Amino acid sequence: MGHRITAMIVLGIETSCDETGLALLRVSSAQPIARAEILSQALHSQVELHRAYGGVVPELASRDHLLRLLPLLEKNLDDAGIRLEEIDRIAVTQGPGLSGALLVGLSLAHGLAAAIDRPVMPVHHLEGHLLSPLLVDQPPSFPFVALLVSGGHTQLLFVERIGKYTLLGETIDDAAGEAFDKSAQLLGLGYPGGPEIAQLAKRGQTGHYALPRPLRHRPDLDFSFAGLKTAVLTQVKKAGGFSQMSTQDLADLAAEVQAAIVDSLVTKSLRALETTKSRQLVVSGGVSANIELRRQLTQGALERGAEVFYPPVSLCTDNGVMIAWAAGLRALDQDLGGHAGSFRAISRWPLESLSA
Ligand code: KG4
Ligand code: ZN
Repeated sequence: MGHRITAMIVLGIETSCDETGLALLRVSSAQPIARAEILSQALHSQVELHRAYGGVVPELASRDHLLRLLPLLEKNLDDAGIRLEEIDRIAVTQGPGLSGALLVGLSLAHGLAAAIDRPVMPVHHLEGHLLSPLLVDQPPSFPFVALLVSGGHTQLLFVERIGKYTLLGETIDDAAGEAFDKSAQLLGLGYPGGPEIAQLAKRGQTGHYALPRPLRHRPDLDFSFAGLKTAVLTQVKKAGGFSQMSTQDLADLAAEVQAAIVDSLVTKSLRALETTKSRQLVVSGGVSANIELRRQLTQGALERGAEVFYPPVSLCTDNGVMIAWAAGLRALDQDLGGHAGSFRAISRWPLESLSA
């Protein structure tokens, strides 16, 4: 047996979409899983840059990542009070995501690796989200059920251990975050739509509009959200366009959109706990910031004697911390190493393929 490393400083780099995220973590071996201390983190959101287009423009995203990365790296080193040479591993999102945006992060990672002679650890973006709720004092124990809800993905997974993921169900069309974003656009709200809908829904009441919950009564664990935007569009058209709707009507419709999405997510997540006989649900991805989703999941789980784990709200959407953390867990806990140390961006990459 070789000498086993018990602590390391990991730099995390995230550029897969519209957030430039960097973080420095000190990750140390511990039981039952490794622990991490966040030494510094810095994030630049491109939300303003893309707002006018109602969605992310890939070319603009890549160029902006390029502008932000080095200043953010310097800020991280300053805030953490460490020198570049003290970094032990360089973790970077390799995919899935926008190829051009991913390449910017990968370039920095490989350039730094050459400069300070340290290994690059490529990270699967969804594994970053998936493991972010484990960054707490009392983490869940393996195995558990995970609900991964982001702008591009909606999946239920059975997590046996780090790196061993079985897909239980997923969306057959739009992702939950996408459903929030598209509905928001139909209601004349800004991008990203999730927080906007959640905010407006606070002043609205459910029960005034009828929206579908497709697949809800099917026994499987799949989701479907494409019908929702059609139904929202129909309601908006009936009212003569969103500009003709009163603030109250818009708020009521926003509340109904949120209720429909949350209802589907909660129903299938609780069903997944039943079919797997698990008592732990781990929720992650941008949509896991949604307060109504958290409220209903926590209550439903409680009624079944189960517990729900979430990342801190600040770590729900894309960030560098989760990337450094996923790499640290792999390096210290199970010696899993990276998956594909190449300089290649993997824009489409199923999470289950890590289990092979
Ligand atoms: O994980 P994420 O930052 O990026 C992806 O990997 O996709 O997720 C972004 C998604 C967007 O669709 C956004 O509308 C949604 O997360 N989101 C929310 C909330 N905050 C972000 N959806 C509902 N409620 C929120 N509070
Ligand atoms: Zn994400």
